[in-house]
Amino acid sequence: MSAPIIIAIDGYSSCGKSTLAKQLANVLNYKYVDTGAMYRALTLYLLRNQIDIHHPEMVASALPQIHISFGLEPNSQEQFTILNGENIENEIRVNSRVASAVSTVSAQPEVRKFLVKQQQEFGKEKGIVMDGRDIGTVVFPHAELKLFITAEPNIRAQRRLDELQEKNQDTSFEEVLANLQKRDLMDTTRADSPLVKAKDAIEIDNSNLSREEQLNKVLALIKGLNGQSV
Ligand code: DC
Repeated sequence: MSAPIIIAIDGYSSCGKSTLAKQLANVLNYKYVDTGAMYRALTLYLLRNQIDIHHPEMVASALPQIHISFGLEPNSQEQFTILNGENIENEIRVNSRVASAVSTVSAQPEVRKFLVKQQQEFGKEKGIVMDGRDIGTVVFPHAELKLFITAEPNIRAQRRLDELQEKNQDTSFEEVLANLQKRDLMDTTRADSPLVKAKDAIEIDNSNLSREEQLNKVLALIKGLNGQSV
């Protein structure tokens, strides 16, 4: 068994980062941390407590009350997100207010500092797959493997629409595409930790790749890492 590594996965909204990260964590028996879920959970707390998300000082003063962790469903072993002791996994995925507000919240430096610290803590012992927007650039700039995932916007919107319809959410392709493009723009243009490809990240466009093909591609990359084997 080779030494555990850190796998940093960055990319646009709904490009399949989490699916890949979960598959890798499963195959390698690594921890998995979905940092988007952390930003969503924090946003949900602010909305529920009527904290004005456009006032960074008010947001910053709420941070000490926010505790985010992850749990595992006993039967399916699916990971879920916990906010102050409550399983909020479903709500952060389907609540459209969270989807609209999260880019505003995640652009705030105090919020990022707060969550990045916890994320670095999770990765202290390596053996972790983490996905987000700034993992290879800010959270783990020395990660052994950095991936930058992309897919065409129409394909991403269709995947997200399928996911929402599976959860019985009534929405349209146009609405989903507009939200996704707005988030792409905010994520790539914000001043603090914008979404950019790290210099040493490997880019994978999965527009025409099946989940299995993508996984095999990455497992081959891991095998090829110096001194690593899976
Ligand atoms: O991956 P996601 O769509 O669940 O992420 C939700 C939002 O959180 C996204 O609009 C950008 C933000 N985010 C971030 O700024 N940094 C991260 N590491 C992860 C997510």
